[in-house]
Amino acid sequence: MTIFERGAPGRRAYRLPVLDVPAKPLDELVPPRARRQGPLLLPELSELEVIRHYTDLSHRNWAVDVGFYPLGSCTMKYNPRINEAVAALPGFSRIHPYQPEETVQGALELMYRLQQYLAEITGMHAITLAPAAGAHGEFLGLLLVQAYHRHRGEEKSRRQIIVPDSAHGTNPASAALAGYEVVVVPSNKEGGVDVEELRRLVGPATAGLMLTNPNTLGLFEKEITEIASIVHGAGGLLYYDGANMNAILGVCRPGDMGFDIVHLNLHKTFSTPHGGGGPGAGAIGVTERLIPFLPGPRVEYDATSGKYRLQPAGPLSVGRIKEFYGHFGVMVRAYTYIRMLGPTGLRQVAEAAVLNANYLQARLRASGLYVFPYSRRCMHEFVCSARRQREESGLRATDLAKRLIDYGYHPPTVAFPLVVEEALMCEPTETEAKETLDGFAEALIAVAREAKENPDVIREAPHTTPVSRLDEVRANRNPVLNWRMRQAVVQKEKGREEERG
Ligand SMILES: Cc1ncc(COP(=O)(O)O)c(C=O)c1O
Repeated sequence: MTIFERGAPGRRAYRLPVLDVPAKPLDELVPPRARRQGPLLLPELSELEVIRHYTDLSHRNWAVDVGFYPLGSCTMKYNPRINEAVAALPGFSRIHPYQPEETVQGALELMYRLQQYLAEITGMHAITLAPAAGAHGEFLGLLLVQAYHRHRGEEKSRRQIIVPDSAHGTNPASAALAGYEVVVVPSNKEGGVDVEELRRLVGPATAGLMLTNPNTLGLFEKEITEIASIVHGAGGLLYYDGANMNAILGVCRPGDMGFDIVHLNLHKTFSTPHGGGGPGAGAIGVTERLIPFLPGPRVEYDATSGKYRLQPAGPLSVGRIKEFYGHFGVMVRAYTYIRMLGPTGLRQVAEAAVLNANYLQARLRASGLYVFPYSRRCMHEFVCSARRQREESGLRATDLAKRLIDYGYHPPTVAFPLVVEEALMCEPTETEAKETLDGFAEALIAVAREAKENPDVIREAPHTTPVSRLDEVRANRNPVLNWRMRQAVVQKEKGREEERG
């Protein structure tokens, strides 16, 4: 039941406080042309009804705080509560972007220090905290690539961005959004970039290459320095998709691998609760030669006055890409996370993430029930395949994933990366205990056995959720996003049914 179907006219959960400033005629405050003409169609409920509604919805949801969430590529790890406590401090949570700089020196100092830590962690020279998500960072990164080539008079000729066929979908999408032609470089048998193919593809039209390392197959690009020299040799730039940074924190740095631009998903690697669309932060790091193109404002420290200030963008900047300076709450959490762990702790994050993924991979491999397309040791995640289940019982990776829900686990990522048929991509993260990994491995093994013995139970799964299989294609093609629209769709469908008799 939606919230609009609950309650009754006149019920209230909130009353506005008594006016404690002089009353003014409404016309003076909001001109009639800007005012709503009809009533505001809000649901009318008591406080208890509101609480029950949202508590009920939250029980239907899944979260890292509820159970294991091995959604590959998404780094769904535990977010320490200390981050929340710090982000909620009034000095951070009750400030306003329009406050004078002298009154928010602490917040600016936090941003400044975070910029410095992230520069050190990535091996970059400067950081902007502005982008609101990883994909937003990618888009900004590509604008920087464009600005760099424009400055050198090569913007018109360098029209291509190369992406591997294993890339996350946002990479080609961001490149296309920035106006680039996307050129796909295939993966080799080992799951890395096919270097010979790359050599063939680069040329005077190459603006850059987008790459994540470890890649989306959870495999380290061993030939990264060779890849960097091929792209640089052709005059292009290297963009690092840092969504997989959890695997290499404190161990190696994109800057040292030869990357020019890096985005970090602060909400993944540096632990802000995410999923369901936000909030995020896709900080971007760049090498020296790209600093002039960064958007403003960035936080600078003025040694003479001893003050932090928001430095506006310079004349070559790509311009502002987000109102104010980004998602400050995510920055506070990332800063707290880094300070709590320190350099040794950050390295341990990566080591434990890689260990957990390899342990899970080894257990599943030993079962002999799933296909493993690559024999290499993995990094923080791995991809196996339900190809055998499809051949034997006609089941798809999605079917197996849905059945895992009945066993009490969030499914791995399915159908991605595209280079693996019936892909199941598992990222256990460093925050999970061995028992959890064992439980999940046993569930996956049990599901594979069921696939042989009783495939129908999988085909119809999940059996334990409030709703079972949703029509995802219809939901995408015909999204019903608000209450009145929903009513209209229901009416239309009723009409159609009546016509059919
Ligand atoms: C490899 C990779 N790149 C980019 C992104 C995009 O990040 P965001 O979801 O913050 O836009 C993701 C997110 O899932 C990812 O896994």
